Amino acid sequence: MLRGKNILLGITGGIAAYKICDLIRQYKKNGANVKVIATPNALNFMTKLTLQNLSQNEVYVQEFDVREWKPEHISLADEADVFVIAPATANTIGKIAQGIADNLLTSVACAFSKKMIVAPAMNCNMWNNHAVQENLKVLQARGVEILQPESGFLACGYVGKGRLCSIDKIFRATVECLSFQTILKGKKVVITSGGTIEDIDPVRYISNYSSGKMGFALANAAKSMGAEVVLITTKDHDAPYKIIKVKSALDMQNAVEVEFADSNIIIMAAAVADYRVREYALQKMKKSEQDSITLELVKNPDILKGLCEKKKSQIIVGFCAESENLIQNAQEKIAKKGCDYLVANDISRKDIGFGADENEVVILDKNGGSYRIEKSPKSVIARKILEYING
Ligand code: C5P
Repeated sequence: MLRGKNILLGITGGIAAYKICDLIRQYKKNGANVKVIATPNALNFMTKLTLQNLSQNEVYVQEFDVREWKPEHISLADEADVFVIAPATANTIGKIAQGIADNLLTSVACAFSKKMIVAPAMNCNMWNNHAVQENLKVLQARGVEILQPESGFLACGYVGKGRLCSIDKIFRATVECLSFQTILKGKKVVITSGGTIEDIDPVRYISNYSSGKMGFALANAAKSMGAEVVLITTKDHDAPYKIIKVKSALDMQNAVEVEFADSNIIIMAAAVADYRVREYALQKMKKSEQDSITLELVKNPDILKGLCEKKKSQIIVGFCAESENLIQNAQEKIAKKGCDYLVANDISRKDIGFGADENEVVILDKNGGSYRIEKSPKSVIARKILEYING
């Protein structure tokens, strides 16, 4: 099940560390290559020799044990497909949430850009501490999967929530995460995002409030699912996939058409301006004596509709933002545009959509089906949209 997979397992200094031997054995039995990083405190509970024997690899503890030219915290992060931290103490959770990198494990966490799974274990009062809960929320919002601890007898003598979840649960979460990483392998996914900017003159423009966050979340999710990603956007982003920065609707159309031919999925999350000025003024327009002026606007091409007319085997997904009659308007739009799916957003709600970090959407399909995704972070919405449209 895990053949060829590289699992990096972080062990921190809690009594539950003794349970991790079974997890390493399960990973090994299923064919994974396992490398263990232990914090110095973890070695109060486990011996390096045990971990080394079970993982059949060297155990990494100190940051400055120089073995290769490449710093260990970078090479360990680069080669791993997933980073599982179990048990994770309140201390290590806090450090990772705040970006503190003061030992090998926390430095690797800082350099790690793929999926991280954290299985906390601690005393119930520590678990209920506000700082710990806030730190967990920070990690979750960044896409880290938190495996909730269980309630029961704790090693400290208390009864309450804080016991490490079962080894089986950690194992299953790891397998799911690793198979998730290949869902879109071999597929090219093109995503547009941000509001287009239609220049009026050298200092003025027409645009909209689209933040580009939903499209960016979709691009990140597609990348984490193994796709070749191209993000065509009006916003600045730094990400490990191809990003094409555009400005106007016409720029966006040109870029989309180049990328469309060999794509498998195209998601138009951009808020494309419907109109642009008929004539761009080469010089800054001067204020005149008149109380009003008229700008003549001409229609921009409907990029999405154009793609649907010439599509071959691509899955084409549009977005629509509606302030009233969400479903009815979305149903009319999917028919008019001819796309396979339409993701409908209700922009009359202030807590979701434009500029917010959360969203709630309904996905309509061309055959009349629909799927509602309840309010959640845009990263979660993005993943669910991709899973749904990919079947
Ligand atoms: O018609 P409406 O603007 O509501 O449709 C929204 C969908 O169409 C979005 O997916 C958007 O990216 C796309 N669109 C487009 N070209 C336009 C206007 C919208 O591709 N000129």
